[in-house]
Amino acid sequence: PRRVAILISGGGSNMVKLVESMTGDHPARPVLVLSNDPAASGLDRARALDVPVAAVDHRPFGRDRAAFETALLQPLLEASPDVVCLAGFMRVLTPAFVARFAGRMLNIHPSLLPAYPGLHTHQRALDAGDAQAGCTVHEVTADLDAGPVLGQARVPVLPGDTADSLAARVLVQEHRLYPAVLRRFAAGDRTPVLLG
Ligand code: GAR
Repeated sequence: PRRVAILISGGGSNMVKLVESMTGDHPARPVLVLSNDPAASGLDRARALDVPVAAVDHRPFGRDRAAFETALLQPLLEASPDVVCLAGFMRVLTPAFVARFAGRMLNIHPSLLPAYPGLHTHQRALDAGDAQAGCTVHEVTADLDAGPVLGQARVPVLPGDTADSLAARVLVQEHRLYPAVLRRFAAGDRTPVLLG
């Protein structure tokens, strides 16, 4: 099976859905959950799912991204992943790091890219008066949140929505979309998954 490493920074709900999906006839298996925050609660959730975990705290490296990434690479290369999934990983990766996993690193982003790359996506969608919001899984390239789209799921924006209520509605779809894209991608199929 394809070996999948998952990078997280927080609660890891998308990571849990990815791990839980990789059973039976699935073409991939999880080999590592890696966090830039040793206190990320997702690490405990991964351990509970019997997935090996590692953490490399970004904070001692300050602004030295290259040094942080050198440290991050060590457990990652030891796991020799075929596919790397960013799932709520909140550090921007340098082009040099991304290049090592060219064509096999995925990210989930909580907007309908190309709309709203970066942060605060739900508030920006509300401020713009958008009728729809959603999430995107894309291939990671050197340009932030701009790689080829591998899947999208849409949700309506409802009257009275706040950034939190919209985020919760989108997250339900993230949990459907990311496993669907990974299954396809691990089988060598890059046809976009379109939900909602
Ligand atoms: C998810 O909504 C994901 O799309 C978002 O962080 C959340 C992580 O939740 N990612 C980004 O904003 C990337 N810039 P999770 O830890 O429960 O999966």
